[in-house]
Amino acid sequence: MTHHAHHQDHSPRQPGHTHASHTDLAETLNLDALLLGAYLDEASEWAAGFIAAPATIMDLGAGAGAGTMALAQRFPHADIIALDKSPAMLAELAQAAARHGLEDRVTTLEADLDQGLPASASADLMWASSFVHELSDPEGALRQMHDALRPGGVLIVLEMDSLPSFLPASAFPGLESRLHEGLARQGWNAHPDWCEALLGAGFVSVERRLFPSVGFSESSTASLTSRYARAFLGRMREAIAPSLSPEDQDSLEKLLGHGPESVEQRSDLQVRGSRTGWAALKA
Ligand SMILES: C[S@@+](CC[C@H](N)C(=O)[O-])C[C@H]1O[C@@H](n2cnc3c(N)ncnc32)[C@H](O)[C@@H]1O
Repeated sequence: MTHHAHHQDHSPRQPGHTHASHTDLAETLNLDALLLGAYLDEASEWAAGFIAAPATIMDLGAGAGAGTMALAQRFPHADIIALDKSPAMLAELAQAAARHGLEDRVTTLEADLDQGLPASASADLMWASSFVHELSDPEGALRQMHDALRPGGVLIVLEMDSLPSFLPASAFPGLESRLHEGLARQGWNAHPDWCEALLGAGFVSVERRLFPSVGFSESSTASLTSRYARAFLGRMREAIAPSLSPEDQDSLEKLLGHGPESVEQRSDLQVRGSRTGWAALKA
């Protein structure tokens, strides 16, 4: 695939993460996986089309382990190394692996990729979800990932195309778009089309695919949806509140308060989001 996207400034990566505690972030990631996690199965299946039986998989920037668990399920014979710089995230991930009976196949590796991939890193399949945009030198890191893959190996990169949204168009019109635009100006989730960087890193071909996802709207998931809405709207408010208009601040107060318009009292929430995946093949 040829790629002509303009180079973008990737910094700052996602400043919201510096404000949220690891517990908040882990909760947000887990709720995202529960409600929008169909893309994890779809992207794992996509990866299997490139490499049917990887012996070793590395989940880079694995977080609370949503991707690790999906990969372990799709590739039942693979050993999976989950790498993250956060020991708290890795502790969450190890607990999730134990709950799924995967402690024999999933190991955790604490490492900061801004300091380089550990020399021991080697895999048939690498997976980097909502992660590459957080690195200080993504191009250099992609080169290291390429070099650490075995011949014929595959790197799957996933990024959110937009931040999750929850409200119907009729409720607080335009509020979520204004929040997302404000956060984009702060660099939240900013990433380019990674094709060019992947080809520059040495991969011989790159495929790109869109993974749209809409959360369930059944009543069985209503409390998960309102928990996710509260967690995400709360993180957005923390990051951006001073720059919001008084009307938007008031709307957020209503949503995050405990009155009739609060996220818990509404029956019209539905999580929406979409991701782009890049599958990069090593010769
Ligand atoms: C947005 S979370 C994504 C987690 C997971 N991949 C997912 O999709 O649910 C990003 C993760 O990358 C980790 N991270 C950020 N920068 C890192 C770095 N330089 N080295 C290793 N991990 C890093 C963070 O600790 C966090 O767990």
